[in-house]
Amino acid sequence: MQKLIVANWKMNPETAEEAKKLFDSVKNGVKKVKNIEVVICPPFIYLPLLKGLALGAQNVFYKESGAFTGEVSPLMLKNLNVQYVILGHSEARKYLNETNELINKKIKEVLAVGLKPIICIGEKEGEDKNKVLQEQLKECLKSIEKKEFEKIIIAYEPVWAIGTGKNCSIEETMNSVLLIKKIIADLYKKEIAEKIRIIYGGSVNGKNSREYILKGGVSGLLVGGASLDVNEFTQIVKSVD
Ligand code: PGA
Repeated sequence: MQKLIVANWKMNPETAEEAKKLFDSVKNGVKKVKNIEVVICPPFIYLPLLKGLALGAQNVFYKESGAFTGEVSPLMLKNLNVQYVILGHSEARKYLNETNELINKKIKEVLAVGLKPIICIGEKEGEDKNKVLQEQLKECLKSIEKKEFEKIIIAYEPVWAIGTGKNCSIEETMNSVLLIKKIIADLYKKEIAEKIRIIYGGSVNGKNSREYILKGGVSGLLVGGASLDVNEFTQIVKSVD
């Protein structure tokens, strides 16, 4: 299966012109890449303007339509040819108080319209990783049908590694991937755990990206800060091709 490199632009850049320029430069930079699916997740308002690479949204609501002021539905994203949705990002958990229960509702609606959720999980500094991942996976994946798992991507993003420059070691990433697989095998089935795509995020850059894919046991990367720098992001993509 193709490796997945996901750019999480967060709340950047400030104008549509800058967004188009960044997108087109990345598109140009990765055009010869063969074995990678590059997914760009810009703020909602830029989604209709960007064409030529796979698109993802950074969040979504859990209903198709209706009286939900300020929200965007999975169906609206689907109708814009968006394919992926980041859910449960630690910033949404922190600043929007998103809970595992809410994330679970969002995952179900995203799957129902045929989009692929990128579900972020990870422990904060000093937390018991085993306990946090168990709880997040159990609650986020509650009553999701087994057949849906081929569309699901789990992003292991230790909160202490996000935007800090302190990326998770390859060894710890590998251990976390094994732990996630074990938890999913216990909750569901071994075959599901073996097949599920797990990616890593947290201070990924052009220098450390390759090792994660070669030795970290992950199927891709979720890139925040470095995805806003065309050269750095292109280097990340090329390093794992
Ligand atoms: P970072 O962010 O690459 O800037 O650490 C990753 C993320 O928040 O998804």
